[in-house]
Amino acid sequence: MCGIVGIMGGEPVADRLLDGLKRLEYRGYDSAGICTIHDDRFDRRRAPGKLKNLAQRLAEEPLAGMAGIAHTRWATHGAPTEDNAHPHIVGDVVVVHNGIIENFKPLRDELIAQGREFRSQTDTEVVAHLIAREIENGAAPRAALATVLPMLHGAFALGVMVRTHPDLLLGARLGAPLTVGYGDGENYLGSDALALAPLTQRIAYLEEGDWVAITREAVEIYDRDNNAVTRPIVNSGASGQLIDKGNHRHFMQKEIYEQPVVVAQTLRSYLRPLESKVALPDMDFDLSAIERVAIVACGTASYVGMIGKYWIEQLARVPVEVDVASEYRYRDPVLLPNTLGIVISQSGETADTLAALRHMRAAGVTTAGIINVPTSSMAREVDLLMPTHAGPEIGVASTKAFTCQLAVMAAFAANLARAKGRLGDEADVVQQLQQVPEAMSEALGHDGDIEAMAPKIAAARDVLYLGRGPEFPLALEGALKLKEISYIHAEGYASGEMKHGPIALIDEAVPLIVIAPSGPLFDKTVSNMQEAQARGAQVVLISDAEGIAQAGENTIATIEMPKVAPLIAPLVYAVPVQLLAYHVAVAKGTDVDQPRNLAKSVTVE
Ligand code: M6R
Repeated sequence: MCGIVGIMGGEPVADRLLDGLKRLEYRGYDSAGICTIHDDRFDRRRAPGKLKNLAQRLAEEPLAGMAGIAHTRWATHGAPTEDNAHPHIVGDVVVVHNGIIENFKPLRDELIAQGREFRSQTDTEVVAHLIAREIENGAAPRAALATVLPMLHGAFALGVMVRTHPDLLLGARLGAPLTVGYGDGENYLGSDALALAPLTQRIAYLEEGDWVAITREAVEIYDRDNNAVTRPIVNSGASGQLIDKGNHRHFMQKEIYEQPVVVAQTLRSYLRPLESKVALPDMDFDLSAIERVAIVACGTASYVGMIGKYWIEQLARVPVEVDVASEYRYRDPVLLPNTLGIVISQSGETADTLAALRHMRAAGVTTAGIINVPTSSMAREVDLLMPTHAGPEIGVASTKAFTCQLAVMAAFAANLARAKGRLGDEADVVQQLQQVPEAMSEALGHDGDIEAMAPKIAAARDVLYLGRGPEFPLALEGALKLKEISYIHAEGYASGEMKHGPIALIDEAVPLIVIAPSGPLFDKTVSNMQEAQARGAQVVLISDAEGIAQAGENTIATIEMPKVAPLIAPLVYAVPVQLLAYHVAVAKGTDVDQPRNLAKSVTVE
């Protein structure tokens, strides 16, 4: 989603601002812009589309100036045009903004009634007008910002400069992350530490409601009541090198291939093989007192929650509810005592999941989070952080974060089961989980077969995925992955549901991807597959050698997986599902890492 970089610099900033934007590209955006202050005036370049368009504008008309702000915009209000691109200038004020100003309409109406003219369709422009109005009425920049912030409803991070105060950079955060970077004779503002990594590793994370005044010499942070506060300066540890694709064509491919390593890395912090134990980080609540679990997440992370429901209920016999976060608060959930709320999120910043977490906390529920970014808002707000160690995930389509989340979810389910006295043979669970990285590597060995069959799927208009038990959410994940990067319409179904409606969609033109490891649910899944085959379905069967020997006839392709225990099958079968989506997207020539309309970190509701 949108990204902010600001530099109060000791040397020219335009190139460095552009570099910062490049490091934010992974978040997804559809236009970009930079504004500097030079010779007491604003100088601005903006361009719709990819950063190369902005870079070209800058090459044609370079920007001077030792202070400036820059932005990548993911359109919410108004099309991704140059006029709607940030920074927005009103009078002496320039603003960049992430998030949404929910009450922008009445504010805009009020400002128009006062004779003010708008040049964009964005919600952001009201912020620039409101601050400009305060300044025109004689307020100093800090006071103007402090007056305007309480007027704004919604979730936002802001970067602001005032032409008449070229040595001051202002920022504010409410519901969208914002960091301050500490340099040597320079200071910075960034929507994440990654954007600032080449400039500094010394970072402070603003807290909800904070605003900040940055000069070259000092950083002053204030809370929502305008009290001066200090926020710890930490070492971000973010690499200053641009994360590259190595030998891979896309980040998504690289991240799929990293899975054996990062899943092993994640499992290492949860498994104690010498003690035959699955462990969790220390917690200050009693796991054995948990009587129910409420899992909330979005998109791919929500499918981890659905798989977790199967595992937790089977292993621990504790009832689990799973909600997509965007629905959670609004259905007014019944939160009974002794519920553990679990949020799952790669970014730790997804607006709906964060809001659901706060809803649970406000209701007095103990919370835990399976989160990949340890400095994120969610990671800081949960009672128990269960980190994934996937490393930065750049491809918009989540892959390695998904399997690392599954690994942590399995560890959690085993711990809850032990706390409930139901785990049985813990050494066996440890052994099964230890087999995951190798089984994933073996699954990756079938990449060539998957690539070879991808053109058949790429030719389809619709694709269906089937699975049963924990492979049902994996079918949903397969369909989501295919949709988001290949733009082919795809749906996932519980295989037993087919004849309750979706089977009407089956004909020779609709490939059916069946995820069916051999095991207790195999025969039933295959019966559903055969019902579809009898109606002309073109089946791709993903199974192990035993399953393929039994049911691989009359399919258009089979993808062979190693034989694995049911507990770890979703982790291993995720690999062919991801590779299939990847190769289909490559065959279709789409923008695999930054698919149209999508953002990596969804910080608006
Ligand atoms: O950062 P999060 O894990 O909270 O993000 C949740 C979803 O937005 C994310 O999983 C999304 O569905 C991915 N694009 C899926 O590939």
